[in-house]
Amino acid sequence: MDAGLRADLIQVAYLVAAFCFILGLRWLSSPRTARKGNLVAAVGMAIALVATIADASVETYIWIALAAIVGGAVGAVVARRVQMTAMPQLVALLNGLGGGAAALIAVAEYHRESVAHAGGSLPPVLAVGVMFSAIVGSISFSGSIVAFAKLQELLPGRPITWPGQKALNAVGAAVALGLAVYASFDIADPLLWVAVAIALVLGTAAVLPIGGADMPVVIAFLNACTGLAAAATGFMLDNTLLIIAGTLVGASGTLLTKLMGDAMNRSLTSVLFGAFGGGGAVATGASGEALPVLEISPSDLAAQLVYARRVSIVPGYGLAVAQAQHPVRELADLLGERGVQVSFAIHPVAGRMPGHMNVLLAEADVPYDQLLEMEEANPEFPQTDVVLVIGANDVVNPAARDDPSSPLHGMPILEVDRAENVIVFKRSMATGFAGIENLLFHDPKTRMLFGDARKSLVQLVQEVQAV
Ligand code: TAP
Repeated sequence: MDAGLRADLIQVAYLVAAFCFILGLRWLSSPRTARKGNLVAAVGMAIALVATIADASVETYIWIALAAIVGGAVGAVVARRVQMTAMPQLVALLNGLGGGAAALIAVAEYHRESVAHAGGSLPPVLAVGVMFSAIVGSISFSGSIVAFAKLQELLPGRPITWPGQKALNAVGAAVALGLAVYASFDIADPLLWVAVAIALVLGTAAVLPIGGADMPVVIAFLNACTGLAAAATGFMLDNTLLIIAGTLVGASGTLLTKLMGDAMNRSLTSVLFGAFGGGGAVATGASGEALPVLEISPSDLAAQLVYARRVSIVPGYGLAVAQAQHPVRELADLLGERGVQVSFAIHPVAGRMPGHMNVLLAEADVPYDQLLEMEEANPEFPQTDVVLVIGANDVVNPAARDDPSSPLHGMPILEVDRAENVIVFKRSMATGFAGIENLLFHDPKTRMLFGDARKSLVQLVQEVQAV
């Protein structure tokens, strides 16, 4: 094929792929269209890959084919096996690999230049692209691997801190940057390697002090960094699609970081430098005595539910762990058949990643019109007879609204304590992800149903059927 025509066709393919990415992102923003969005984005990526390897400058296909087979096989197995609850660490890992890939391309490009023009300097655009990709990509790689290890419990989830941490990080960042700038003017391979090594240490040192509760926000932030590193790689390689895709990832990662930070009332600086996530004390009354906890049995609860007019269900991380989405849907259907008005109230950060609860409930075919966002659900609680809080904790903690001394203070919550009755499904009195005591469990209108959420719900469904 004529070289000019081939190059033009590649650009057209890139345009189509970019369109697919944008459409995919648009559709991914609603649970209703998310599957379609994922598929369109995957088709876009397939087009992009074919177009890229069709480039005339590709000399051999064997290494590309080998990498695609091995990478594709690992990806397919991991995607099929991963539990929904382990999705944040998978995202961290994949994101880290993206950052690492951007850094490796930068190092390879630098090496090519160092062979061609040893002792010379890099053209300015190439210099910025190489240095940005190498440093930001390396930080994103090591930071994401630490985030993965924390969420996978290979490293302790609590903040790991040491004296002079921030100052040491600042010095490290300055040295890496200085070296990178110097390496742009005096091309010599080892200089960039040293800058990359420092950036890898920096990524690790930046994420170790961050507590598990903030980890998904950090992952979104690192995701944005990886996107920007990929966009810089696009400038370096003069590849339009990589610039577009990297910018899309950078922009969506930044927006997601902001949305999650807002939903948890945490600024990015407090997430990155705050070492948040400590343990709370056991709740006590004014004179120090342990506060009472009232329980309810599944049969009593079944009777209360079938005679209720309005029931709201608040799903949380524990519902996901227990894989209780199917029995909860069954319960909602049964109550609906009895004329009870049932809805699900979804907090934006319920679970461990954005959209966690929506995905889980969609998997169990809960109708979308039963799902209420926090802003819609809160005004409804005062008219709700029973709220079932299933495996949720921090997102319904009234201290976030009422106690200025609470670390959660300011985080918007589902105000379930305004409903007439609250039933909490959990296994023990343990705290939630943020490690903060929850006085809702001691409220006189609250009853606890202890046990695994799935088992409790299966039993409750049987009791409702028997009423
Ligand atoms: P959590 O506060 O983590 O509470 C979950 C509760 O589920 C725990 O108290 C636990 O109590 C219970 N549980 C665990 N396994 C269970 C099982 N098998 N059966 C029944 N209960 C079980 O969850 P949440 O209310 O969904 O809040 C989410 C937290 O994650 C917030 O702190 C939020 O800031 C944080 N976070 C979320 C995101 C996103 S985007 N979703 C991002 C960053 C941070 P027991 O151990 O007693 O059972």
